[in-house]
Amino acid sequence: MPEALSRPPSGGDGATRDLSFATRVIRWQGRHGRHDLPWQRTRDAYRVWLSEVMLQQTQVATVLGYYGPFLERFPTVNLLAAASLDEVLSLWSGLGYYSRARNLHRCAQLVVAQHGGEFPRDSATLATLPGIGRSTAAAIAAFCFGERAAILDGNVKRVLARVTGFGGDLAERRNEQALWVTAQGLLPERGIERYTQGLMDLGAQVCTVREPGCDRCPVRKVCVAHAQGRPQAFPVKSRRVTRGRRESLLIWVEHRQRTWLVQRPPEGVWAALWCLPEQPDSPAPAALDHWPVKGHALPPTDHALTHFDWRLRTLRFTLPHQLAAREADRLVKPLGPGRWLSRDEALALGLPAPIRKLLMGG
Ligand code: ADE
Repeated sequence: MPEALSRPPSGGDGATRDLSFATRVIRWQGRHGRHDLPWQRTRDAYRVWLSEVMLQQTQVATVLGYYGPFLERFPTVNLLAAASLDEVLSLWSGLGYYSRARNLHRCAQLVVAQHGGEFPRDSATLATLPGIGRSTAAAIAAFCFGERAAILDGNVKRVLARVTGFGGDLAERRNEQALWVTAQGLLPERGIERYTQGLMDLGAQVCTVREPGCDRCPVRKVCVAHAQGRPQAFPVKSRRVTRGRRESLLIWVEHRQRTWLVQRPPEGVWAALWCLPEQPDSPAPAALDHWPVKGHALPPTDHALTHFDWRLRTLRFTLPHQLAAREADRLVKPLGPGRWLSRDEALALGLPAPIRKLLMGG
């Protein structure tokens, strides 16, 4: 690690030049960082944990719309642990990465069953719980209990790789480990809370992926990537995920104001969420040709998931009112086990955002 980052160099050419990296981050956070986010007004581990899980892979602006309503419904970890997974997924609906919601629910149940309803106070124990990785554990422990623990989420990797000119390929585990050691070495003796928030704020607001704002960056004077005039060369990450494409057909069947919805399998895309039955491919299954009504094709919609782009086509069938319930059941049976649900019943369940939108607009 360049010495200037951890220790003030002797004989610097001005007062500000002599500051360590951590001191610069802490000072900058106090003046320019974020202070009014709802999860910053508390040291309650339940609230901080919830925010950190929501903020994994999701931007602050989006999380702000979900955090309050979730806490209103589940103000304590005990209430969350006692809820049904369906209800938790319903409040998560639209935030994406639903394994987070399932882990959140399991984690709440473990905190109640194994820790008497109190979150563990150290990062090592926190990191044993579902959905709490090393960085999230460190953030909770730093914010709530003042532990000097290093965070290293995607944004912070970028900040630290640039500041230290870290040229190792972060797709390799040993390099990521080395960056963890660097992160630990940069921690301040005091002010861990503000430092941790400052790193997050720098990554989100200044040291961004595209067009980093070096001219307003508090650590520019100690930044190796800036000195080299190539901030965007860091971090180095060779392995790019090749995105796939997928097309599916959704079958939207209505009978007497109810829609046939199926619960998706516990693993995979939109796991455990309620959805219109998905057929793997076009053309539409031949059985649909023998239905008493023709399907009406809706405009296709496109969804970017982590590993593939997904084009969803939807065929909508409105079965005649006079058709017997038994007959309607017989028709939908090949689409997989499910339930006939009114619009309100469906909207109260965990639905993927595009399906929710479809049902609300329909
Ligand atoms: N991203 C992850 N944790 C965060 C936090 N506490 N505040 C803002 N952005 C974050």
